[in-house]
Amino acid sequence: MTVIGVSLFMKHCHGFSSRNTVAAKYSRFATASSLEATSTSSGKGKLLVLGGTGFLGQCICRRALLEGYQVTSVSRRGIPPPEKSGGDTISTATASSSSQPLSGSNYIDYRRGDARQPDTVTKILQEGGYIGVVHCIGLLFDDASGLGAYNRLVSGSGSIPDENSSYDSITRVSAFNAIDAAIEYAKSQQSSANDSKRRLPFVFTSAAEAGWPDVAGGPQIEQFLAPDWLRRYLAAKRAVEERLTSKDTTLSLRPVIVRPSLIYSLDRPASYLPVGAFFVGNRLGLPFVDRPVTVQSLANAVVRSLSREEVEGVLRYPDIDALNQ
Ligand SMILES: NC(=O)c1ccc[n+]([C@@H]2O[C@H](COP(=O)([O-])OP(=O)(O)OC[C@H]3O[C@@H](n4cnc5c(N)ncnc54)[C@H](OP(=O)(O)O)[C@@H]3O)[C@@H](O)[C@H]2O)c1
Repeated sequence: MTVIGVSLFMKHCHGFSSRNTVAAKYSRFATASSLEATSTSSGKGKLLVLGGTGFLGQCICRRALLEGYQVTSVSRRGIPPPEKSGGDTISTATASSSSQPLSGSNYIDYRRGDARQPDTVTKILQEGGYIGVVHCIGLLFDDASGLGAYNRLVSGSGSIPDENSSYDSITRVSAFNAIDAAIEYAKSQQSSANDSKRRLPFVFTSAAEAGWPDVAGGPQIEQFLAPDWLRRYLAAKRAVEERLTSKDTTLSLRPVIVRPSLIYSLDRPASYLPVGAFFVGNRLGLPFVDRPVTVQSLANAVVRSLSREEVEGVLRYPDIDALNQ
């Protein structure tokens, strides 16, 4: 188990303000700010972030910590990659010899674990005190795509797929395991007198392209232009979306499915070119191109969705903007 101090890691995840005008059109979440008013108080409970060492996951962990959650992260690496500053590599992680998570809200409790194993999430939730689960595990290129060796380069956190890393195992199997575990945990919470109605928020990171069947031109793009690996990537995302929104699941869990297009951060110029292209496509009104979102705004929206009971179902970029208001 490894912990990291909050003061050390604000590099990519500062500046959560939103200046988006698009959001004004979407009043769906605009009214529910009362819970956010208490956001600086501690003791909001524990949040489990699956993939908390990823580009997005690190930002979600940090945001949640700042909002007063106790954060547990699970990933194969355990700790996030060292940050680079002016050519120097800075390791901010320190190992804890404690077998129990540190108490208090100043630390992220980093655990090493493989979410493809059915009991990884079950065991952690059994420790109790969790108020939500976020799944932001993923990979862009699996081995079968023939591009697996490049995933390390395109992953925002340098995640390296292993020999069993397919879209199906990394996305669908890990998410199904987590959903099964979360349902069991939520049922046990609901059976306690105080919490009989509360559904456990479960946030799943999907992708904008999972919505192609619903937008003009989307099905054609997918059928005729999308490479095979992208179709398999989307099949895994959709399988999880379907499971999360099924009746059996929603009795116990409140599903929040974020569908970002490209996720970027202004301090990572390498992504400017593709991000710019997506911005242009979106501005031109192509219905199958969603506007990219910053990693900070997405992380903020994810964390805010935890306490807002009315937030449920698919969130596209205007909804993410709205949650940032
Ligand atoms: N980045 C984008 O532009 C973008 C756009 C749309 C959607 N998304 C989605 O957003 C999510 C996060 O993407 P990202 O950019 O943050 O990716 P990333 O930096 O590559 O992070 C992936 C995370 O998954 C973890 N992981 C992989 N296999 C695992 C396993 N078997 N068990 C536990 N953890 C595992 C990785 O940690 P280890 O390597 O340590 O295991 C890492 O923490 C993904 O679902 C992705 O599909 C991303």
